[in-house]
Amino acid sequence: TRALALEAKDLEALRRAMAEYDGCELKKGARNLVFSDGNSAADVMVIGEAPGKDEDHAGRPFIGPAGQLLDKMFAAIGRTREATVAQEAMYLTNVMPWRLPQNRDPLEDEIDMMVPFVRRHIALVRPKVIVLMGNIACKALLGQTGITQLRGTWTEVEAIPALPMLHPAYLLRRPDAKADTWRDLKAVMAKLKEVS
Ligand code: URA
Repeated sequence: TRALALEAKDLEALRRAMAEYDGCELKKGARNLVFSDGNSAADVMVIGEAPGKDEDHAGRPFIGPAGQLLDKMFAAIGRTREATVAQEAMYLTNVMPWRLPQNRDPLEDEIDMMVPFVRRHIALVRPKVIVLMGNIACKALLGQTGITQLRGTWTEVEAIPALPMLHPAYLLRRPDAKADTWRDLKAVMAKLKEVS
């Protein structure tokens, strides 16, 4: 997948390469490839885990309950998927472009297979700031897990500032953790100001 990913010279070519890639069994069980949503010119790129049922049906990331919370979180710092201005927009993708059976976590091999596509995706979008949403995004791109420890501390992915944050699906179960997320969203806002 590394060679296929590097061959893709723009987002449409990357989407095509991923759609045509037959090496991952998960493709067979999924209804749609879930590539991305939002504005690819946005200065912030959010990387989630994998599509759920709603996303698999629609072919768009983050549209179920967790996605609706994600939209509210980013609206609170003035960001929407629809905005045409880079500084008001956001761009969303996932580590895994296909839904997993019973929404299980992806295996290490499955992540390793798909991560060159995510890295290429980042390189083509070149956002100013990356948000790593939850454990799987951190595992894939940092090689680390333990999101409650990792969250809130800046790191880098592809030489771009990246902040691990709690996944909105986690916040739906643990609303008491929303204060941490608010702190992290403010840190994202501050970083965007700093790097622009
Ligand atoms: N959770 C994710 O991480 N991504 C989605 O697209 C939907 C739910």
